[in-house]
Amino acid sequence: MLTSLTLLVPPAPTSPLLTFNRLSHFPFSPSISAATSASDLLRVVSRRLVLATKTQSITTMATQEEECMGSVKAQLAKIFEASLKVTVPNEPDVEPLIAACTGKFGDYQCNNAMGLWSKIKGKGTQFRGPPAVGEAIKNNLPTSEMIESCSVAGPGFVNVVLSKNWMAKSIQKMLIEGIDTWAPMPPVKTAVVDFSSPNIAKEMHVGHLRSTIIGDTLARMLEFSKVKVLRRNHVGDWGTQFGMLIEFLFEKFPNFEDATETAIGDLQAFYKASKLRFDSDPAFKERAQQAVVRLQGGEEKYRRAWAQICEISRTEFHKVYQRLGVHLEEKGESFYNPYIPGVIEGLTKQGLVEESQGARVIFIEGVNIPLIVVKSDGGFNYASTDLTALWYRLNEEKAEWIIYVTDVGQQQHFDMVFKAAKRAGWLPQGDNSYPRASHVGFGLVLGEDGKRFRTRNTEVVRLVDLLDEAKSRSKAALIERGKGEQWTEEEIESTADAVGYGAVKYADLKNNRLTNYTFNFDQMLNDKGNTAVYLLYAHARICSIIRRSGKDIEQLMNKGTLVLEHKDERDLGLHLLQFAEVVEEACTNLLPNVLCDYLYNLSEIFSKFYSNPECKVIGSDKETSRLLLCEATAVVMRKCFNLLGITPIYKI
Ligand code: ARG
Repeated sequence: MLTSLTLLVPPAPTSPLLTFNRLSHFPFSPSISAATSASDLLRVVSRRLVLATKTQSITTMATQEEECMGSVKAQLAKIFEASLKVTVPNEPDVEPLIAACTGKFGDYQCNNAMGLWSKIKGKGTQFRGPPAVGEAIKNNLPTSEMIESCSVAGPGFVNVVLSKNWMAKSIQKMLIEGIDTWAPMPPVKTAVVDFSSPNIAKEMHVGHLRSTIIGDTLARMLEFSKVKVLRRNHVGDWGTQFGMLIEFLFEKFPNFEDATETAIGDLQAFYKASKLRFDSDPAFKERAQQAVVRLQGGEEKYRRAWAQICEISRTEFHKVYQRLGVHLEEKGESFYNPYIPGVIEGLTKQGLVEESQGARVIFIEGVNIPLIVVKSDGGFNYASTDLTALWYRLNEEKAEWIIYVTDVGQQQHFDMVFKAAKRAGWLPQGDNSYPRASHVGFGLVLGEDGKRFRTRNTEVVRLVDLLDEAKSRSKAALIERGKGEQWTEEEIESTADAVGYGAVKYADLKNNRLTNYTFNFDQMLNDKGNTAVYLLYAHARICSIIRRSGKDIEQLMNKGTLVLEHKDERDLGLHLLQFAEVVEEACTNLLPNVLCDYLYNLSEIFSKFYSNPECKVIGSDKETSRLLLCEATAVVMRKCFNLLGITPIYKI
């Protein structure tokens, strides 16, 4: 039985966290200079937001305004932007720096004063140091119902206390209009997420499982943000090994059409046996090499044999996807084959491709090995395919963001491909402009022996078995808790699915993808601590509170009023409101763990509220408001689960 696999990775590179810069992408720029007061400016900025939305989607006027609101942080940024324009009119390009507060002085802070001071001092400014700049930023803020009070602290931080009333109203509005109104607005219409991408006839290993889980989450976050996502399975379905496989297939199955999954059994074992034959029999080797030529020449029989081998692999991959509920569209390496010569020719014409030791290569600044695009035998390789796939995605599929999810071991490969694309002018020079290509690396999977899991020459862990074990363990736990008598067979099955697969996913996603991760069933299936099981149960408990109240929550939403009186209510409300900016950060920086942290904290903050006798829900005079707060928590939790690819459960 498998209990623990360890992931070891190199230290995470430190990169500054980014957020979508909404304002810089707007197509309209009505004259800002014509506006005189901060309130005027705020109106102009808001109008720009509405106009920009208008070009993208056909919605009613009311929803356009709604859609433009953005996260609390983005909304505050708009207000502070207006103040900054008035405070320092000679510094028109200052971006408001807004952050959630960790201290007790406010909910958010604006951190522009210190940086601004160093820009303006000595330029005849009226200010006498950063605190005065902070003071002016505060005084020039346009009135806003968002803000209850502001104060300037230390060297000029402007602290903002949000209005409870506004907070409560915003949460209730989300309940009525739906959580989609809190979705991020990335500046792209179409994205490719290239993930999972196992290799035909080879083992689909734990690394592919990580890629599948992480890639699916990233795709979900982008889909939630209304981006059209092409979920690409870039399967390894091309290469010289197919000659050997085809020849072996002909040998074993003279009627090769009979070679179904059941007849072949284990395709990996088949691969191993054919490799053995290839290495030990020169005549076979010769035939295998011929087979590659005939396959690549498009000979019917060889094509069909190849297609059959691919199909058998696909069936196996599909079992994993089906358990995980992950959807992918296959465009394997072979798909790009016909485009490779044209792309290489283009690059050659641009003078990028050079001759080196018989191969044709692209030299990349700062990397001491070149990117080989045509091998010395004239054949194409992984890099030729990836360059071509990138070209195709940019030019044919018009993707503006192309995201590759693989282990960190492939980082250099992608770095070189992206740099070559920049040299060719396919991608802009800067890393944060669009169209953009991003490599999402993650740690490698090691076995219990501390060594990296290998495709061949070690015992293989079948992913299907791994997932089945997660499910059967969670089913056993349900039976142990007496659910066998209380629930239907179907309920047991679906809950075991949700908990088992959810646990595997969450255990992977909650870690920064670049840091160490230990695969351990006992840990991930624990119902305490930061696990999917704990979180799923927490959600189910909230649902049962609402059920027990016997109230119609839809009706409360529309007729009742949510208020945030008690400190614990306000803390919970603030955290709920931060969902929008957290999901935006997770999406921009391609870090699912940011969302997991948020979800875990949400459930902790909810517990604090719910376990406080002063915040009694059912039967208290604040029942309606508190039920709405429970419902909002459940809605946000469900959205988090949904983005993480986890199925929520409603009872425990
Ligand atoms: N098949 C590759 C592997 O198993 C992953 C492919 C990733 N995608 C890409 N466009 N290269 O390592």
